[in-house]
Amino acid sequence: MKQTELERARVDQKTTKQTLSEQAMKPLRFGHLVIWPPFVAAPFAGYTDGVYREILREFGCPYCYTEMVSAKGLVMGGEATLALLEHSEHDRPLAVQLFGSEPEDISEAIRAIHQADVPFDAVDINMGCPAKKVTSQGAGGALLKDISRAEAMIQAAKSATRLPVSVKIRIGWSGGERAVEIASRLEAAGADMIAVHGRTVAQGYSGEADWGTIARVARSLNIPVVGNGDVTAPRQGLKLLGESGCSGIMVGRGILGNPFFFRSLYQTLRGSEPEPAAAGERFTLAIDHLHRAAQRYGERRAMLELRKHLAFYFKGMKGASKLRTAMNGARSWSELVDTIRHASRCFGNELHM
Ligand SMILES: Cc1cc2nc3c(=O)[nH]c(=O)nc-3n(C[C@H](O)[C@H](O)[C@H](O)COP(=O)(O)O)c2cc1C
Repeated sequence: MKQTELERARVDQKTTKQTLSEQAMKPLRFGHLVIWPPFVAAPFAGYTDGVYREILREFGCPYCYTEMVSAKGLVMGGEATLALLEHSEHDRPLAVQLFGSEPEDISEAIRAIHQADVPFDAVDINMGCPAKKVTSQGAGGALLKDISRAEAMIQAAKSATRLPVSVKIRIGWSGGERAVEIASRLEAAGADMIAVHGRTVAQGYSGEADWGTIARVARSLNIPVVGNGDVTAPRQGLKLLGESGCSGIMVGRGILGNPFFFRSLYQTLRGSEPEPAAAGERFTLAIDHLHRAAQRYGERRAMLELRKHLAFYFKGMKGASKLRTAMNGARSWSELVDTIRHASRCFGNELHM
């Protein structure tokens, strides 16, 4: 018989208590960085822009990445690419994530960032993206099929910066058998930290993350390994941290529409029961996010780009799919804001924004 959610949560809770008392949780350290608690927000193209990262920070997120940025695009000075680097002073420590297939593009892009004096705390190289338009150029996940090139990318990055250089990989292209060998070679090439997403490139985002393989990598390397895949709740993340031997946890889809994750994490660490976000809080934050995005991008672009975020804020709530349809159908900024206000009122929550 399938375990119910409640039974699973009870087991989780018991094991977390054990795991936490057995090991004193340490900060995630690499280069000059000390990250506490050792939980980081995953990079998400189209989601974790400066606006959303600012919200994540307000809920206590200790470490973020930019969305992935094309190294070639940076070298060519494309305006849209440069805009991806923008961040506020509160949005630190922050890694800039680059993707590319040519080691020289990586080093030139890093030099361009330093010349433009944009402050970052680490450089990360994407070696996991499964999108065809990325892998067909030999970038992202395709680098896992060409480890010599992946090594050269790290060496090129190290030669261009004194910042720590990290890598985000998957467990392999179509299987996880070589994960330890791949990660060890990247470590030997100079990587200061490796985040491992426990899926293969071929899997995309389906199936379950293979935490057994993540643990094998974590136990084989001398540099910190951050595990990623399917973490949706603090207790579960803490349990995986304890069991896998990882130095940190990267939270992916679990933070979309849910910056509350970090508040719950602190509550859990203090030993209290995490408070779920109330409906009113979700509506207030959604409207706040919308206003911040409008300030940054203008109302039209904010309205279009935030649809996907908004859907995540209301996921699982009563009437969420009807609300999503109404939001997607809104033809103007005021119609979209009114739609959210009206839905909020149905939950007994008047929005004053
Ligand atoms: C829409 C979308 C965009 C993503 N963008 C990036 C990206 O820019 N850089 C990156 O390294 N990973 C990216 N990822 C992968 C996530 O960072 C993360 O590794 C993945 O979602 C697995 O974690 P999860 O199972 O906790 O969601 C993206 C994933 C999705 C679904």
